[in-house]
Amino acid sequence: MISKKINVLLASLLITCSLNASEDNPTQDEITTLYVATFYRAPDNGGLNYWLNQSGLTLSQIAQSFFEQEETKKKYPNGTTNREFIRSIYQNLFNREPDTLGWNYWENELSLNKISRDRFIEAVINGAKDDDNGFDETTLENKKEVGLYFANNGFSDMDEAKIVMEGISDDVKTVSFIKSKIDLDSVDLNSWNDYDDSNDYDSNHENDENDDESSNNNDDDKNHENDENDYETSSNDDTNNNSNISSTLTLPTSYSQNDGRLLASQCFQCHGTNGVSTNSWDSIAGEDEMDEVFGEDAIMDAQAHGYTTQELNLIGSYLKTLSKHHDD
Ligand code: HEC
Repeated sequence: MISKKINVLLASLLITCSLNASEDNPTQDEITTLYVATFYRAPDNGGLNYWLNQSGLTLSQIAQSFFEQEETKKKYPNGTTNREFIRSIYQNLFNREPDTLGWNYWENELSLNKISRDRFIEAVINGAKDDDNGFDETTLENKKEVGLYFANNGFSDMDEAKIVMEGISDDVKTVSFIKSKIDLDSVDLNSWNDYDDSNDYDSNHENDENDDESSNNNDDDKNHENDENDYETSSNDDTNNNSNISSTLTLPTSYSQNDGRLLASQCFQCHGTNGVSTNSWDSIAGEDEMDEVFGEDAIMDAQAHGYTTQELNLIGSYLKTLSKHHDD
């Protein structure tokens, strides 16, 4: 406990120093990371170039400008509490819940206006490291690499920019997997369906030397003539072919408020019909703390990671409408 406290103190000291250092010209790495943190997507080619070469702004000014964008206002509508905001940023960057100590610390800083939301984002980015809390630094590196690869290969589609980021974890295989999709210009809603973490997605690539050079090599790896990619299953011919289920599955792109009930039906397998449990596991009818789906229990944690934040929020708002059931 004591050493954790010291860590937080050190982190905040470090942050103060690095905030001052960020007044120089921003690098494309830094701007990309900011996109990941704020928007949870890869930068689009035009946007990255604009902020990097034309805006004339420092990194902190860019972070601030991001908060004036429609995209940000939509993602964090008025009324988003500091606590929810902190959580989103941690999920965007590291795919994890904030640790209690960090969560409370930042909530306090934000509530007392000791730090603004954009500066908080910069601070969390600068504090990322691989430790007991998770492989934050590696995860962020991976996301940055994918973001740069996407933008620097000339892509700008917003939906694709989101999709490429969705499956990126601390596992480097997620990076090579999605890069190969980008190479083939085959990023779509099904892109992650055929991801299999036991595959080595690089093994089929002849141009492996180039895989680490994420920037500007637009011509690299474009030639996939000899790639017999067994993971390339989502070609259109497969669409009506039941032999490959993943290619016939289309995930919804948007939800309406009432979809929470449908989404929650899967939860009822374990937590009982309409969330009233008849086994030793908790009832979730009337549950208003969706935070608890992460981190408390390994089985639950695995379930929860199958959902996007939006889906969990919808499930949560549905569960809230059910009358609260208290287990003995
Ligand atoms: C495979 C079984 C399984 C499924 C499916 C499942 N859960 Fe759970 N859940 C658990 C277990 C196990 C726990 C922890 C032990 C317990 O509840 O007693 C848990 C705990 C929880 C808790 C914390 C309960 C509390 O009061 O502390 C919430 C909230 C929850 N689940 C919500 C959900 C939601 C929402 C879904 C659907 C997205 C879901 N669960 C799907 C197994 C499951």
